[in-house]
Amino acid sequence: MAAKSPRHRRRSAAHSAPQIARTVTALRKSVARLRIGGATLALVPTMGALHEGHLALVREARRRADRVAVSVFVNPTQFAPHEDLASYPRTFAADAAKLAAEDVDLIWNPDAATMYPEGFATHIVTEGPATAGLEDRFRPHFFGGVATVVAKLFTQVAPDIAVFGEKDYQQLQVVTRMARDLDLPVRIIGVPTVRERDGLAMSSRNVYLSAEERSIAPMLHRTLEDCAARLRGGARAATVMRAGASTITRAGFAVDYLEVRHAATLAPVKSIKDGPLRLLVAARLGATRLIDNIRV
Ligand code: PAJ
Repeated sequence: MAAKSPRHRRRSAAHSAPQIARTVTALRKSVARLRIGGATLALVPTMGALHEGHLALVREARRRADRVAVSVFVNPTQFAPHEDLASYPRTFAADAAKLAAEDVDLIWNPDAATMYPEGFATHIVTEGPATAGLEDRFRPHFFGGVATVVAKLFTQVAPDIAVFGEKDYQQLQVVTRMARDLDLPVRIIGVPTVRERDGLAMSSRNVYLSAEERSIAPMLHRTLEDCAARLRGGARAATVMRAGASTITRAGFAVDYLEVRHAATLAPVKSIKDGPLRLLVAARLGATRLIDNIRV
């Protein structure tokens, strides 16, 4: 149980730099040191290119546990060959500086050969929320890769709690389900999406948007808000989704999906009475794929 016990916190105002571990052995030594005296530990898994959304997760972790570890690992197994693994933004020095400013204790930064040594042959197979027909329909490899790396991160770091963003809502449900199904002794915490002032959900991939695309991008969130209001007003889900998709398309997006689902199982629903509900969207703007979701 992750209790707040400030007795384990450092007292000085000037934070010391986080430890950086790059091998499993070094990681285990660091974790053992951080755990001395029974300190609780939170993990925030990331792929780096850190922005305020990631930092909100770190702050939530900071509030809930004595020690905070952040993993920075661009996980090759969740990218398809045609996706942006090679060009995914890598900004480790800037990330480490941001994490130091948040008083993070440990950065786990393995390379791909450390995470997936020669002969690696064991994968997590995901069903349930991972086969809801949302992200999985467009990125069939994705949740297997995410679940495998997150299961490894949990085993490597052995945190009491792990913090994920609602920004990747289906991912949050998949990881929550996996932790429950495998009896992993870690509590999963979800943090609301952090947005730019105009509503665009912060994302490491927003740097790919041209100036014109960036000006169109907030339409996605605005449309979700409009659809949620209409659903709350009693409009039929199918009608609202059709109108929402056509608004997004007219703005210049290619829509992958716009769907209203049960908030926990992600199963399809017909009306507001089947709630709690979540509205989820994925759409491409030029070469950039954006996802977003809100509560109805
Ligand atoms: P990444 O895209 O770097 O995101 C790391 C965490 O930050 C995820 O839990 C994500 O939901 C959260 N996050 C991203 N943008 C956010 C925002 N605007 N507001 C709140 N939280 C936000 O998601 C991944 O990495 C990977 O799939 C990972 C879980 C690390 C496994 O490789």
